[in-house]
Amino acid sequence: MDGVFISFEGNDGSGKTTVIEKCADVLTKKGYQVLVTREPGGTNISEQIREIILNKENKEMDVRTEALLYAASRRQHIAEVIIPALAKGYIILCDRFIDSSLAYQGHARGIGIDKVFEMNMFACEGLLPSLTVYIDVNPEVGFSRMKKDCRKLDRLELEAINFHKTVYQGYQELVKRFPNRIVSVNGDQNLEQVSSEVIDLVLKHIKK
Ligand code: TYD
Repeated sequence: MDGVFISFEGNDGSGKTTVIEKCADVLTKKGYQVLVTREPGGTNISEQIREIILNKENKEMDVRTEALLYAASRRQHIAEVIIPALAKGYIILCDRFIDSSLAYQGHARGIGIDKVFEMNMFACEGLLPSLTVYIDVNPEVGFSRMKKDCRKLDRLELEAINFHKTVYQGYQELVKRFPNRIVSVNGDQNLEQVSSEVIDLVLKHIKK
């Protein structure tokens, strides 16, 4: 496969979506073929699964059901979008991937990082991003940014601050576990600075 698969991770309100857009712009202007995609979502079927997961009426959803649905959505995304785009040589910028499941379902929901990793390996067939950019933002800051955002909050975003703090701890653990893949960027600076750091990182990675 000739393409490059890069994922972006962080707490809700970390600003990663804006950073991804800026990064995509720069890469496109440099002549790269870029594909921006997201999880849960990225395909018709995955977006339908997303609706079920994030619907705030689904209060009774069991945590393992939640983890399986994220993995099912991921599987479809990999099969339908990621593998074909890698084969065509695209640079894929993916807003969340397996580490979201590890931090949110594995750590914060308490299923266990190893269990969720193993279950996701069935979905991914071993395919992982070659680089994961983690935007490290204080969970209190992310939480208040998210609350200020006027769009409607989904089922996960509606969780209390303690949940988001636990997600943050989960990410800290992942940075330690996967030092060769995950690179942490300080997200407590303005978004211009964060974006420029991320763009440098991504360009360096692509040229490798
Ligand atoms: P999304 O609406 O894309 O949030 P953001 O724009 O902040 O990235 O993601 C939906 C929520 O789903 C978000 O709170 C994180 C959560 N999530 C998981 O819990 N597990 C996962 O595997 C993924 C991909 C997302």
